[in-house]
Parts: sequence; C-alpha cells; structure tokens
Amino acid sequence: MTKKEKIIRYQTAQKQLTALLAEESHVILKMATINCILKENLSYYFWTGFYLVHKGELIVGPYQGTLGCLHISYDRGVCGAAAREEKTQLVPDVHAFPGHIACDSHTNSEIVVPVFDKNKKLIAVFDVDSTTKNSFDAIDQEYLEAILHEHFAVGDLDK
Ligand code: SME
Repeated sequence: MTKKEKIIRYQTAQKQLTALLAEESHVILKMATINCILKENLSYYFWTGFYLVHKGELIVGPYQGTLGCLHISYDRGVCGAAAREEKTQLVPDVHAFPGHIACDSHTNSEIVVPVFDKNKKLIAVFDVDSTTKNSFDAIDQEYLEAILHEHFAVGDLDK
C-alpha cells in the first residue's frame, strides 16, 4: 500500500469512528468498534487488539485475529515496553526485538500504542501485528495515536 493510500484509509476509518462513537462512552464498545473499523480499512492488519491494564499486568481485551496471549507482564515483549515506557513502539522486524512474545508465529512487524484516559492514566495498550516486515511507519503512529486520543482521552467515559 502506498503512503498516500494509507493516509486515505486512515482518514476514512477516523471519520467512520468519529461518527459511530460520538455519543458512546463504554470502553469495551469503543475498543471492539475501533478494532473492526481499522481492520476493515487497513488490509495489512493481521491481528488487532487491546491489552488492558489489570492488577499490575496486561490482560487480553477486545481483539480480532488469531488467539492472543491471555496475560503479558510489564517486563515482557513489545506490549510490556509500551506500557512501561508509556510510549508507542514501532517494530519493523519483531525477530530483532529482544523479548518479543510470539503469540502467533506469522507476525513479522508490529506497532503498540499506549492508551490513556482523560486523567492521563494508562488504561490499555493497542497492538497491531502484520505478517509482513516494515508494515508500520510514522503514518500509522500518527493516526493511531490521534484516534485513540479522540476516543479515550477526551470526555467522560463513565457518563
Ligand atoms: N507481540 C506482542 C504480544 C501480543 S500479540 O502478538 C497478540 C508482544 O511482543 O508484546
């Protein structure tokens, strides 16, 4: 997919999500819908899902794809690094990432974005995996951070 097409696909997904979720507040509803709309628009998404911060570790939340690991500790893998550092992890080749957790051996590249609530507290990480190396770049990072910010860091999730 060209960079131009990627931007158009993200813009389409972003608009669809804004329309669908404008009046919604439930965290799981939002996560499930974000997975679906992004995966429908971005053809290189192989696995997409959220790991939720729960009792000092990450546990699998809403996702689309093959079976995900159920528990991930903060000191392991790309998801653990994103949670620990509270920073997006762009991994062009998962086999070169120390401690990468292979939930599915088909994965070759991934991006993991931290998800914050309106009080800037980490509530989850969002993980997207691709079967091809180098699938994710600054465009994915920019749009995913914007989409996650729009739906989790703004407004009252408990209203
Ligand atoms: N690859 C991740 C684990 C989660 S899954 O691949 C679904 C990691 O290393 O944190």
